[in-house]
Formats: sequence, structure tokens, C-alpha cells
Amino acid sequence: MRLPEPRTPGRYRIALVCLGNICRSPMAHVVLESRLADAGLDDRVEVESSGTGGWHVGNPMDRRAAATLSTAGYDPSRHRAQQYDASWPAAYDLVLVMDEANLADVGGRAERVGLFRDLDPVDPGGEVPDPYYGGADGFEEVLAMVERTSDAIVSAVGGALEAAPEEPA
Ligand code: 4NP
Repeated sequence: MRLPEPRTPGRYRIALVCLGNICRSPMAHVVLESRLADAGLDDRVEVESSGTGGWHVGNPMDRRAAATLSTAGYDPSRHRAQQYDASWPAAYDLVLVMDEANLADVGGRAERVGLFRDLDPVDPGGEVPDPYYGGADGFEEVLAMVERTSDAIVSAVGGALEAAPEEPA
């Protein structure tokens, strides 16, 4: 998938959004940052996450989300929840939300706003289901979706940066 051009050539800013910012978007945030670091893009690509609801602001990740990440070798410890702000679509290059309710909450599809799983290479266009009220298998399912989709995002962002390289000073 072709991503929108970066607002600043040579850099890319991605915002990930769910409902509570304690399960899905934090898991996607940690995995995507890890994959970007593996690809050597972490100095040029910024990732942020938030929830459309404010109940958990300032809190660490849900302990089940954190455990799922830890077991898979990621570090969940730095996350603190924050609330989505309507200024984000104008500030970020890409706003990717986890489900249709999130999409409605941020004002619907736009050039820089879509579903995270629009970039899912296996089964594109669906939702990342909310695991909050379910069991551990829901978190495993989220991790699998987030890992394969993050790989696709890294390759798409790499393409977008090549197409819009940093301008010489
Ligand atoms: P998330 O999951 O949107 O993936 O972070 C949820 C976390 C908390 C709540 C709902 C969903 N909640 O209602 O508190």
C-alpha cells in the first residue's frame, strides 16, 4: 500500500488509536517501534498512541497486554496512556485506528486516517478486536495481527521516505 507523503520530507509520524490506550494501540506501538528499530528507521519515524476515551490516562498498559508482549520478547514498561486529541490528524502523517468505532470517533476515513488493518498483508481491512473483556487468547490474536501489520507498515514507510527524501540543508 502507498502511504501519504510525509509532511516533512525525510521524516514520518504515525499515530495509533484505540479506545482505552491500554491494550491494542499500546501493543501496536511497542511492536511497530521495535520493528522500525530493527529496520534502522527509528531515527526518522516517530510513533505515538492514544485512546479516544480518557479513563486510563497516565496508566501503564493492561497487565495482560504487557504480559503478552513480554512473553514475546518486547518491553511494555514505558507505556503511559494518553487521550486522543482532534488536532492529531493535522499533525501526524498517518492516523491508524483499531476498529470502526474508533474510526467514527476520529471523524471517519480521510486521506491520512484509516484502519490499522488496512495494511494487514494477510487479511486486510478488518478490525483489531477489543480484547479487554475477553481471555488471554484475544491478546495473542491482537499480537499476531499487530506483528504482521507492523512489518507491512515498516516496508510502506520505507517506501514513502525513499520517495520523499530529506531535503539538503
Ligand atoms: P483498548 O481496550 O481500546 O484496546 O485499550 C480497552 C481498554 C479499556 C476499555 C475498553 C477497551 N474500557 O472500557 O475501560
